[in-house]
Amino acid sequence: MDLLEKIVSLSKRRGFIFPSSDIYGGLGATYDYGPLGVELKRNVKERWWREMVYRHENIEGLDAAILMHPTVWKASGHVEAFHDPMIDDKASKRRYRADDLIERRIEKMEASGKEEQARALRTRFVAALHSDDMPKELHRIILDEEIRGPDSGAFDWTEVRQFNLMFETHAGAVVDDETKIYLRPETAQGIFVNFRLAQETARQQLPFGIAQIGKAFRNEIVARRFIFRMREFEQMEMQYFVCPGTQMEHFEAWRAKRMQWHIDNGIRPEHLRWHEHEKLAHYADAAFDVQYAFPMGWQEIEGIHSRTDFDLKRHQEFSGKKMEYFDPHRKEKYIPYVVETSAGLDRTILMLLCEAYEEERVEGEERIVMKFHPEVAPVKAAVFPLVKRDGMPETAQALAADLRGHFNAFYDDSGSIGKRYRRMDEAGTPFCITVDGETMETGAVTVRDRDSMIQERIPKNNAADYLKDRMQGWSRSAER
Ligand code: GAP
Repeated sequence: MDLLEKIVSLSKRRGFIFPSSDIYGGLGATYDYGPLGVELKRNVKERWWREMVYRHENIEGLDAAILMHPTVWKASGHVEAFHDPMIDDKASKRRYRADDLIERRIEKMEASGKEEQARALRTRFVAALHSDDMPKELHRIILDEEIRGPDSGAFDWTEVRQFNLMFETHAGAVVDDETKIYLRPETAQGIFVNFRLAQETARQQLPFGIAQIGKAFRNEIVARRFIFRMREFEQMEMQYFVCPGTQMEHFEAWRAKRMQWHIDNGIRPEHLRWHEHEKLAHYADAAFDVQYAFPMGWQEIEGIHSRTDFDLKRHQEFSGKKMEYFDPHRKEKYIPYVVETSAGLDRTILMLLCEAYEEERVEGEERIVMKFHPEVAPVKAAVFPLVKRDGMPETAQALAADLRGHFNAFYDDSGSIGKRYRRMDEAGTPFCITVDGETMETGAVTVRDRDSMIQERIPKNNAADYLKDRMQGWSRSAER
């Protein structure tokens, strides 16, 4: 089993993530978050919101509707240009992103030391992405490079065709072109159309940002790799409105801040890197992705884009409403430029699961342990009575209830202590507290550290503060 398969299995077994509608055999590329998964996700959202909105006086929050006026998507360019170039392997009947196949070939060349060939192919690839007939050029490369179907090994391709990724539906009872609307493919447009209202009501001056966490939908043709590419997913996006000409300095500042946020969540810096876009999106003048070293290779988790004034200008054009800002310092009106930070929440979760997963041998037995940063861990502490008698369950339950006033705590009295530890290791719970005979006499409990497995005695009444201190001081390398 590779690491991703192990994570899929653990996610279902422990209640992190389930296939959607599992009793009906699941629904492709759609997943549900179980009891542990929902806590993990809430913690990540909470940390993002705290970092982006509460730590910046000049960033406001927003929660826009998923359904928007259909003209939004004409203005944004999504109706016309939100396509992926796809190619079918006739042998396996599987569909692939043509650009993905070529990228993978380049990476393979690089990995096997064929630097010069890789460079030449990349130059041709970039030219193809910019050409007027991109699908045809990509198709030519696939044929010239004799790229084979990854699943079948066959060399029997269709043409490359463009597929629009937006989900369509209809508002109201009548189903015709007039009532056609879309499920939003990104949260960003909800921010753009509310730019003036948010700026005026919050009385913000530029530079200022609007942050939002919400669902987005894309009819991904190739939806594989668990929650990496889904049809329904969540984004954490922030649009930072700046004076034209200053965008690059803000762009660089946001790049640094966003990379640090992932590191602060417990991701090893060597598992993160920057990837500069080969071909800029129709709206961007600079774009970098934060990539993570997933088991299936380096992949994007967040994009930092300098989007110019494209979106606001287009919304001004299509709506007829002014999107200008009067700059009181410069004493002039202009349409702001935008720097966007756009993180995938589900991809962040998959990254945290991959980063946390460890297998160890402990006293001849295998232990699977999820070494999450305690601040994102679904459960912070578990409380166990050593045995189910002599007042220990009552004392342990009272302690768990007290801890719940501070953070998510769990009470467990079933099975041996060893089994209870193992369950909590798989859930990624940083601390297990045991109430034993000595507790009943002196009030001292043992605290067992998930990572080092070292046990320590502390006064029961001091447990919440003690755990909070330990959580704040956590670092991945720290072996106590
Ligand atoms: N507003 C800009 C925007 O939407 P994007 O690069 O298309 O940019 C931003 O998406 C992030 O959303 C990606 O970095 C990724 O983490 C996440 N994302 C995009 N498509 C996804 C999908 N099908 N499933 C899960 N996450 C996705």
